[in-house]
Amino acid sequence: MINTFNNIDLTGKRILIRQDLNVPLVDGKITSSKRIDASLPTLRRALDDAASVTIMSHLGRPVEGQVDAALCMQPIADYLSTALDIQVVLESSHPETLEPLGSGIRILENVRFWAGEKADDEKLARQYAALCDVFVMDAFGTTHRAQASTHGVALYANEVCAGPLLAAELSALACALKNPKRPLVAIVGGSKVSSKLSVLRSLVNVVDQLIVGGGIANTFIAAAGHPVGNSLYEEDLLDEARALTGLMKSRGATIPVPVDVVCGKELSASAEAVLKLVKGVQSDDMIFDIGPQSSAAFNNIVAAAGTIIWNGPIGVFEFPQFSRGTQDLAIAVANSAAFSIAGGGDTLAAVDQFGVIKDISYISTGGGAFLKFMEGKKLPAVAALEARSAA
Ligand code: 3PG
Repeated sequence: MINTFNNIDLTGKRILIRQDLNVPLVDGKITSSKRIDASLPTLRRALDDAASVTIMSHLGRPVEGQVDAALCMQPIADYLSTALDIQVVLESSHPETLEPLGSGIRILENVRFWAGEKADDEKLARQYAALCDVFVMDAFGTTHRAQASTHGVALYANEVCAGPLLAAELSALACALKNPKRPLVAIVGGSKVSSKLSVLRSLVNVVDQLIVGGGIANTFIAAAGHPVGNSLYEEDLLDEARALTGLMKSRGATIPVPVDVVCGKELSASAEAVLKLVKGVQSDDMIFDIGPQSSAAFNNIVAAAGTIIWNGPIGVFEFPQFSRGTQDLAIAVANSAAFSIAGGGDTLAAVDQFGVIKDISYISTGGGAFLKFMEGKKLPAVAALEARSAA
């Protein structure tokens, strides 16, 4: 059991909250505020109860030890000030030179600007811990990183707990994976099998159906002996794909391979989309989406599911002519009576684009962390909270 906001008295205490405010920026402007919006309820509750609130987060992947003006937290501070209707001051100094905050709210500069973050440096972690009476870990999206602001600080802070967003994420994911209502269906899309190999290897042991999409599906199509033309696929992983298919079969489960696909000759917004049976793919074709027969089969699987976990789109949904498979699947997941969880940046962009976010049972804010949880791996930042809660 992890201590949470609900079982810790925050009254009059100085709290430090690690959030995942890693949002996309273009020319200094936030292009999707979803992660910040998800953190607002935690901040409102903290402002109501605690004496002072210090927020910290990473933004992007700057070179550690250097301040990168393009990844400063100022746009986030401005957004929070408006959303919370209270001025959220950006504190640009190194944590070593900071004092605990007496009252009010502030945000620290990008934690990845300071040397020692990635290495989970004890000195840096202790400097964070010294800023608070209670450390609140609420950044599910970084729980898979054992870093000074996610893991180390939790070892040294006076008191620690999970914030409401992290607690909600963990309980939704546990509900989907620890004791799921069957059939359990996983949808794993994305460009490469290799980037999701460990999650695929774990899922084949637990799910009843595994729907693969995108470049990952192309490798399975090729492994089943069909032509994939010029499509993105991984020749060196054909045996792996066959082994995963065999493992599923031996459990009476399946990895359905598309029977029809939508092809183009180039990946561009103006490429012509041509529907083909998978066995008719030509050497200069690239598969960018699934066809209606495959969609219907996948949608039936989803309709019959008890639980659905989804990470990664099924086709190149950013281009309208190749978006139909992902759109139909998103609608099928939304209409299904199953408990459904979607996570990962592309998946969230897809469910947002097709207007079905509100019909998915739980939207995870995590990308890599969501995948690690799906793999059944321990999340180091959660392990640190568990260890402190048990002590
Ligand atoms: C994410 O975007 O998945 C999280 O913010 C973690 O970011 P990272 O992969 O750069 O650690």
